[in-house]
Amino acid sequence: MNTQPSIENISTILVIGAGTMGRQIAMNAALAGYTTVIQDISEDGLASARTELERWAAGRVAKGKLTQQKVDEALGLLIYSTDLDSAAVTADYIIEAATERLDIKLQIFEKLGVLAPAHAILATNSSTLGSSKVAQATGRADRVCNMHFFNPALVMKCVEVVRHEATSDATVETTMELARRMGKEPVLINREIPGFVANRLMGALQKEALYLADAGIASLEDIDTTARTALGHPMGPFELMDLVGLDVVNFIAQATYAETGDEQDTPNPGIASLVAEGKLGRKSGSGFYDYR
Ligand code: 3HC
Repeated sequence: MNTQPSIENISTILVIGAGTMGRQIAMNAALAGYTTVIQDISEDGLASARTELERWAAGRVAKGKLTQQKVDEALGLLIYSTDLDSAAVTADYIIEAATERLDIKLQIFEKLGVLAPAHAILATNSSTLGSSKVAQATGRADRVCNMHFFNPALVMKCVEVVRHEATSDATVETTMELARRMGKEPVLINREIPGFVANRLMGALQKEALYLADAGIASLEDIDTTARTALGHPMGPFELMDLVGLDVVNFIAQATYAETGDEQDTPNPGIASLVAEGKLGRKSGSGFYDYR
């Protein structure tokens, strides 16, 4: 087989991490007809992913959005595994969606560089770490890039394909085409910048929303309503932060600040205190809003 990445070489996809993003990315891949391994170190994480995806699939059928045959085929293509090594050996395309920690990602990518077939692209879904940070550890830096999905990944159309200096054109083209085959509208980010494009746009809006609320100009609710009714956003900035998770928002802000050192990027202390109180947004039952 040709060792250059190519869409034709892809039949099996490995998604590492069965969390909020990984599980839905994997379902996108299965719906596109790929045999898809979801790998996680936690059996409970895999069980929870399976339950959510089966429930989602049943909901699609009940709503008449997908046929029973289509969801059965997709669910039948999903393989749940805790064994990274054997999954890596048979994967033609790998999307890492593990914990946002460089030391963990470095270990994973070093292993993938040894075990995955030569033609396999090693992508990361990371929103905070450009793939250049892990590329050298793989021994195939040209076949490494970010493939960044958005929450909820079964709904949001955008995928940011981010190249680093050594990413090859074949890697970019294959990743863009794979995203299209998953029903997405990929955009190409030509070089790494903290937050890429979407999180920078979102961050700018969030910063202004936090300023307006902190200054008592308008309530959270009214700021969110304005974003929805004046700008046509599907949800307001505070609702969106609660959806993304305040821990994630805080982590992105910290990572951006660590990289730029720019005072304008200083993380918001109000969000840090909510996180310290365990108020992480929807997933914990409360954040800016109460969901209980
Ligand atoms: N998983 C799967 N599908 C979901 C879902 C979920 N968690 N939540 C909603 N949906 C589906 C529903 O099933 C429904 O599908 P249908 O119309 O085909 O039947 C559709 O989305 C609309 O859902 P609802 O009617 O329940 O609610 P809304 O119309 O309010 O839509 C929303 C919900 C899609 C989340 C919408 O509010 C939205 O687009 N919000 C903005 C989301 C956004 O900006 N995401 C990006 C976050 S940034 C990020 O992820 C980057 C990372 O690096 C931090």
